[in-house]
Amino acid sequence: MTEQSPALDNLLTESRTFPPSDEFAGQANAKADLYATADADREQFWAGQAERLSWDTKWSQVLDWTNAPFAKWFVGGKLNVAYNCVDRHVESGHGDQVAIHWVGEPGDTRDITYAQLKDEVSKAANALSSLGVVAGDVVAIQLQMVPEAIFAMLACARIGALHSVVFGGFSPTALRARVDDAAAKIVITSDGQYRRGKAAPMKANVDEALQGAETVQKVIVVKRTGSDLEGETPWTDGRDLWWHELVDGQSPEHQPEAFDSEHPLFILYTSGTTGKPKGILHTSGGYLTQTAYTHNVVFDHKPGEDVYWCTADIGWITGHSYIVYGPLANRVTQVVYEGTPNTPHEGRHWEIIQKYKVSIYYTAPTLIRTFMKWGEDIPAKYDLSSLRVLGSVGEPINPEAWIWYREKIGANKTPVVDTWWQTETGAIMISPLPGVTAAKPGSAQRALPGISAKVVDDTGAEVPHGGGGYLVLDKPWPSMLRGVWGDEERFRDTYWSRFSDQGYYFAGDGAKYDGDGDIWLLGRVDDVMNVSGHRISTTEVESALVSHPTVAEAAVVGATDPTTGQGIVAFVILRGNAVDGGDDAVQELRNHVAKEIGPIAKPRQIMVVAELPKTRSGKIMRRLLRDVAENRQIGDVTTLADSSVMDLISSGLNSGKEE
Ligand code: WTA
Repeated sequence: MTEQSPALDNLLTESRTFPPSDEFAGQANAKADLYATADADREQFWAGQAERLSWDTKWSQVLDWTNAPFAKWFVGGKLNVAYNCVDRHVESGHGDQVAIHWVGEPGDTRDITYAQLKDEVSKAANALSSLGVVAGDVVAIQLQMVPEAIFAMLACARIGALHSVVFGGFSPTALRARVDDAAAKIVITSDGQYRRGKAAPMKANVDEALQGAETVQKVIVVKRTGSDLEGETPWTDGRDLWWHELVDGQSPEHQPEAFDSEHPLFILYTSGTTGKPKGILHTSGGYLTQTAYTHNVVFDHKPGEDVYWCTADIGWITGHSYIVYGPLANRVTQVVYEGTPNTPHEGRHWEIIQKYKVSIYYTAPTLIRTFMKWGEDIPAKYDLSSLRVLGSVGEPINPEAWIWYREKIGANKTPVVDTWWQTETGAIMISPLPGVTAAKPGSAQRALPGISAKVVDDTGAEVPHGGGGYLVLDKPWPSMLRGVWGDEERFRDTYWSRFSDQGYYFAGDGAKYDGDGDIWLLGRVDDVMNVSGHRISTTEVESALVSHPTVAEAAVVGATDPTTGQGIVAFVILRGNAVDGGDDAVQELRNHVAKEIGPIAKPRQIMVVAELPKTRSGKIMRRLLRDVAENRQIGDVTTLADSSVMDLISSGLNSGKEE
């Protein structure tokens, strides 16, 4: 037997805490007793959350887990998801409330009330029905952040068709793989999109993707860039239809049909570590219950008062759960922005917050670090006093980025909620409650009321406080994935086989408990380094680097090392105000990490770079950096947002070596 050792060494310590003000706590949607209420009777608790929705037929059983890992929630219940997100708000007298403040990248805007949203969604639903789309059919959507993307998703939900949204930046090959896998009947796209101030074609890529695609009958095209686009939009007669010609003339009356609680709502593809993307399947009642619940308690959202802005793209799960379903079910007024954060200038987000008096802002650490890099004087020029809750999602947020976010954006007073979840979990699972939790920068802290998560070792035993290991979800939750589209084996293998004896869902993330039992996410388990027998998280070393005043962003990888097993190699971007990264600066950074974490975590090598390779959803591609660190030919770069970044890094390093 091997010696028992913690799965991850717990090295970085962070002791700052930020409790909510009495004022915030007093008015919060979620109070401290919510944890005990949920613990006392989980199913009763979730039934109470489901009652926030409008059901056509009530369920007879809250949870059926007899066929694990295939859950059924609110068994026998029937509802229409789009009715819950739209019509019921009009019926309750809020038809004039703005649902969406849409801001186009070139500066055009559109305010859409709930009454207008109801008309648009109904017309789009009638249009899809007129093309023969019925419940259970799949509609692929490749659109940038335009209102029609939201209308189209809700129109699908309204008629029981599944949508499969494909991120606008994905290549024709990626789109085609998704269209084929789900046998999509319809594709919805646009003529072109504005990106960094320029009109770029979109339909042309879709055409390339669909050559010979047998399942696709119609392509619906939203006119967005029109004559700003060079050249004509390619057209296939008999297949292609303009959105405005098809939809605008439809009746705004549409009777929503109630579907089973377990009726499929959508498929969203997410990349696995290898091979083809997995089509993650979500269903209706449980998904809407948990997205609405979490949006209510985590963001403390007050309908009709708050102005909410989630900066995610509709092509990712965050856009599905926290732009479309959760917020609209809760009668949100929200900003939807089409463009990039630095078009036409680096203050664009702050300008929008100032204009619409945004009170809840939800974004990703990668963007926060980019804002840090651009400098605090940019947000300082705007009135951000409307903000009262800030959120973060997508990767571990380094404590320094967290503090910067709270201080420079949140005027040192707003709660910051670090929300951990996945495409597969459908909704937020681990997060502080803004009116309850004394927040710790860098920690997602604790499973939400009604949710259960554990950190376990290799054998599945829970690690003690202070210990590290693997994050598992040990009880089913309403918005859990119901499978991988068309591949039951892959579903079982990927998520349920690692801890099959215990029946745990393995999230693929490393995590640790601190002394109080709060959870700290440590990145994907394949981002764990092993240096001289110590398992060190790349996240911890990155956070230590980012805590140095000269560092804006850092990515850390483990490179094969003849003596220590792996050596720590760091890539850092310096802040705008830092002097050039000469040898002394690098030495200082190495010492800084040694001081923050311990000599064991001192990077073997630190390379100063201008950019880091990222996927289109902003995740750093450590695999490519590992290739650089190990002097290998660089691998597949097709999923990079900007494929020239790797050339920049390698050429910079080579020239550095030769001179
Ligand atoms: C990571 C995004 C630390 C994690 C909603 C997870 C996080 C993966 C956090 C899912 C967080 C997401 N702290 N890590 N707050 N949020 N992650 O499917 O590794 O795009 O497994 O869903 O992102 O990414 P996905």
